[in-house]
Amino acid sequence: MIKKTTKQKITTDILIIGSGIAGLSLALKLAKHFKIILVAKSSITEGSSQYAQGGIAGVLDPFDSVESHIEDTIKAGAGLCKKSAVRIVAQNATQAILKLIKMGVPFSKKIQSEDFHLTKEGGHSHRRIIHASDHTGKSILKTLIDKIHNSANINILTEHMSVDLIYNKNLPIKERECIGGHILDKKTNQVITIIANYTVLATGGASKCYLYTSNPDTSTGDGIAMAWRAGCKITNMEFNQFHPTCLFHPKDRSFLITEALRGEGAVLKLPSGKEFMQDHDLRADLAPRDIVARAIDYEMKKHGIDCVFLDISHKKESFIKHHFPTIYSRCLKNGIDITKEAIPVVPAAHYTCGGIHTNLTGQTNLNRLFAIGETAYTGLHGANRLASNSLAEGLVFAELAYQQIKKLYLPIKKSSIINTKIWDTSFVTQSEEKILVSHDWDELRRVMWDYVGIVRTDNRLRQALKRIKLLREEVREYFYSYNLSSDLLELRNLTQVSEIIVKSAIARKESRGLHYNINHPHTKKNGKTTSLQKTIKKGIKK
Ligand code: FUM
Repeated sequence: MIKKTTKQKITTDILIIGSGIAGLSLALKLAKHFKIILVAKSSITEGSSQYAQGGIAGVLDPFDSVESHIEDTIKAGAGLCKKSAVRIVAQNATQAILKLIKMGVPFSKKIQSEDFHLTKEGGHSHRRIIHASDHTGKSILKTLIDKIHNSANINILTEHMSVDLIYNKNLPIKERECIGGHILDKKTNQVITIIANYTVLATGGASKCYLYTSNPDTSTGDGIAMAWRAGCKITNMEFNQFHPTCLFHPKDRSFLITEALRGEGAVLKLPSGKEFMQDHDLRADLAPRDIVARAIDYEMKKHGIDCVFLDISHKKESFIKHHFPTIYSRCLKNGIDITKEAIPVVPAAHYTCGGIHTNLTGQTNLNRLFAIGETAYTGLHGANRLASNSLAEGLVFAELAYQQIKKLYLPIKKSSIINTKIWDTSFVTQSEEKILVSHDWDELRRVMWDYVGIVRTDNRLRQALKRIKLLREEVREYFYSYNLSSDLLELRNLTQVSEIIVKSAIARKESRGLHYNINHPHTKKNGKTTSLQKTIKKGIKK
């Protein structure tokens, strides 16, 4: 099915990079008309979507309304949401959910009822989160992947990682076209050149630039970094969301403890057993995430403690096991019985609210390039994402991008295929010192955690920028000297994205939503977005 023009050059109609909910949904829609290559960095299931516990926000209760969903989203977004994006997602989320139900996603029902169980999360004024117990992402992916495997028009390349987009470097950004990507086959270490009429980035966020994260290893900001290098506008990267409650356990990696636990009555406590959220916000444990994460950070620093505790043990054992089977068994493996005792938790990096700037159809400012899902900035989240709006955004923008690609579809010129050069490896050698890359990984993530975390200062941001610039220089040298590996490519992308995060944070001289700077504690009257774009020096290779 794949048409090979030379051994390392492949052509297709559409290249989709990323296999989360956004990428898979779009692939299924486009495959009705076009040939698709879908690139997955690891196995097809690995990515943040797989770990989504909470659910999808959408108006399904007759007593709820789209206006209320819009209002809650805008309130959480702290003055920076783009109203048209909020409206389009809130209006279309219900339809997207109904399609998933029709496809067979096993969403949870109320006990002894045919009605779906809707849960609540911080910042929502109604119960409007549809979910499949506490493994919503996994259940949706399974349904989508089963359908993908049955589609003759979708060719899946697993264990392949994108290196860079292909575009005409010597033209100004307005005249550039993206015509595919250079993709590393991780098993053979060969780079293949995939030429496509349209390319879609659905690569997820960049929370892996922080030492502690709820995200899987794949969240390394690949799409954002590639788009940046190609000249795309990147917006609001200072707004990285920290999830308030991830499992704190010396022998286990950060593991998400869904906000739905608090929606169903769990309470945050100090080691003494004292509840503290009512001291920080009237909505107490159901305040939006930025407030809860900052409150936990404050209490941990004030009391010199390593974690706080989340307690749901007052609920019936059967209720806990029915609603939260994943969390129950993961905690039990670590010796914590959540039906009897509180869970030790800490905040961890969770979601990149900024990203590649797109319009309301997922189009970026680089011709023929689209971005959807966490990697994109659509304007929905503003300065802080409302819980469970991300899967809704991914599904709705997959539909909008599908409609737009179908409408615009025009093949690239034949000469573009012929003139595209394959990846040149003649200038690199094999590195004998893996420690160089692994050291820089550790250093970067530590710097981001310590200096660009939940609470920031001007001085820490300046220090972070200095160090990241040094790391970027080192990584650039490795990139041009040594054979490619996924570790090196991810580090290259993470340093790039971290620099954009820090520069965006430095540019924001106020505190707003997820960005809190002790030196600028107030929120300005008129909020503005932060957009950065690479200066393109004509004719100079990056
Ligand atoms: O807490 C959660 O289940 C996370 C939901 C989300 O990030 O939207």
